Amino acid sequence: LLQRGAQLLGPASGEQACGEVGTGRMVEPAEIVTAVIGSFTPGALTGVKVVVTAGPTREALDPVRYISNRSSGKMGFAVAAAAARAGATVTLIAGPVSLATPAGVVRIDVVTAEEMYAAVLAAQTACDILIAAAAVADYRAKTVVPQKIKKSGASLTLELVPNRDILASITAQSPRPFVVGFAAETERLLENARLKLERKALDVVAANSVVNAASGFEVDHNALTVLWPDGSAELPLMHKTLLAERLIELIVERYRAKSRS
Ligand code: PMT
Repeated sequence: LLQRGAQLLGPASGEQACGEVGTGRMVEPAEIVTAVIGSFTPGALTGVKVVVTAGPTREALDPVRYISNRSSGKMGFAVAAAAARAGATVTLIAGPVSLATPAGVVRIDVVTAEEMYAAVLAAQTACDILIAAAAVADYRAKTVVPQKIKKSGASLTLELVPNRDILASITAQSPRPFVVGFAAETERLLENARLKLERKALDVVAANSVVNAASGFEVDHNALTVLWPDGSAELPLMHKTLLAERLIELIVERYRAKSRS
């Protein structure tokens, strides 16, 4: 089939009907629909180089423990897949997640925020659009203890130091790519997202509330409020595969508008 030019989707990996976990799952229907639609539509990002970050980072405390967060990578992987389907050359910089690499995407695996920083900095020199969906740890342990920290009856204080902000470092450069950040908020979604847009000098920010169990971290669905300096758009709750398609459409519009100005 491949020799005859057929495009194969899947198999996906994860939990299967027989109870085993691994490769062999049917690709999600939403993903099949968007891939079929995509194969009949000329790519809006053909010739454009896109870097996407996804997943959490892990900051070691000792050889067996780390600080991290609930990001599964699903949102970022869906964005990378949507950008690839739109014709972009996509590099996906992924924190530790258990997801299959989307078709046609080059993947770089990292663990810590510092590793993600270095990987993004190296990749962004040849990048037109950077989309940062990763939930990067804002802090790491000042000292990583070389042996497992022993339990004692006393309380334990960890000293944390701030990690460098990847997006702020990229937008401080000249020339710089078109930069799309995400904002994960538990309160005052719009206000906090607009602050991030301004403080990090982003072109677009995609804000999501992470207080609802039906959207945000880990689950297959999400909703986004997308903001840019002089406008905004609402993308209501939908499967992350479809949401990523809609987000990419908005990013293409804003990217083209900025390129014209
Ligand atoms: O992975 P899933 O389970 O699918 O969940 C998706 C998601 C909720 C993780 C995703 O939609 C999301 O919101 N990602 C960004 C999470 C986050 O870290 O937001 P923030 O508000 O803390 O950071 C703002 C932006 O700055 C982000 O684009 C982040 O990548 C970036 N950042 C953060 C810290 C840092 N040191 N450097 C950065 O560049």
